[in-house]
Amino acid sequence: MGTVLGEVTDIGSPRIALVTTAETAMVHGDPDRELQDSAFLGAGVSCHYVPWEDASVDWESFDLVIVRSPWNYPKRLAEFMQWLRDRSALANFHNSASLIAWNLDKHYLAELAIRDVAVVPTTYADDADELERALDTNPSAMVIVKPVTSAGSRLTGRFVTGSPAALNLGVQILAENLTVMIQPFAESVDSSGEIGTVVFDGSISHSFRKGPLLGDEGQLKGGEYREVITPAVLAEDERSLVLQAHSAVRQIAIERGWLGSSDELLYGRYDIVRLDDDTPALLEAELAEPSFFFEVDPGSAQRFVDAAVRRL
Ligand SMILES: Nc1ncnc2c1ncn2[C@@H]1O[C@H](COP(=O)(O)OP(=O)(O)O)[C@@H](O)[C@H]1O
Ligand SMILES: [Mg+2]
Repeated sequence: MGTVLGEVTDIGSPRIALVTTAETAMVHGDPDRELQDSAFLGAGVSCHYVPWEDASVDWESFDLVIVRSPWNYPKRLAEFMQWLRDRSALANFHNSASLIAWNLDKHYLAELAIRDVAVVPTTYADDADELERALDTNPSAMVIVKPVTSAGSRLTGRFVTGSPAALNLGVQILAENLTVMIQPFAESVDSSGEIGTVVFDGSISHSFRKGPLLGDEGQLKGGEYREVITPAVLAEDERSLVLQAHSAVRQIAIERGWLGSSDELLYGRYDIVRLDDDTPALLEAELAEPSFFFEVDPGSAQRFVDAAVRRL
């Protein structure tokens, strides 16, 4: 006999919480929802989309909690970080809340660089002086300015080097108490986009190409945020970089006690661009709340669900 929890009939099987947001407009059009839901259904698992903002939820009552689409966190960062900290000891969180908190600040790129992972060259600026200096010394014709915590290209712009608008965006980011990242613009993003690779349980599942998002002088390409996603095949040097980045992240998680020494992370997504010397470099390692773009590979949602079910 099932019991009724709110509007969801709990069939009594293992229960998985997929953490989302109460701001449902933000998750409309979640590209992963349909394939994910049917794969979980096929596995006989009750899965519940639960907003992180709901203080009445008993997260420990779920067999597994997967942070999936809490996409309003950049606007409520302090509150969301506290939410994660309060759940750092819960063993039913995959990926762990502490790893997610670490991953929401792109200072992690510097930690990966120390471990010999090739990352997009980045200067971090914590005040206006550092910002000006970084912009003055940017070596490429165009420069990227963005915050250490972001999603969906928020406060992210591309500028001609020397443009006063680049400084203005940096000042706006500092005013939100966020560190500014200054990077050379990788021209390859305009011609061939970036390549994202999804890893479940330590194995590469699939890759996709994401078209360019940024237009000129801080504007979005075409004036709106539009992700064009297509299937992609990883080059050999890109595959090595993905595996190296994943292994460095896993090592960090183990060293800090966020992962058992023989365990794997449930998921990771590694976004790579090619620099102007054609070498691949990591733009982002996403261990928090990435879209997986299951639609580029028919078996991929099943691989995610299999990895989740192995943790029950
Ligand atoms: N150094 C860079 N070179 C080229 N394009 C970039 C660079 N940094 C960011 N972009 C563009 O801006 C987009 C958003 O930046 P990203 O670092 O992926 O942040 P987020 O996805 O967290 O908003 C990327 O998908 C890419 O199109
Ligand atoms: Mg990105």
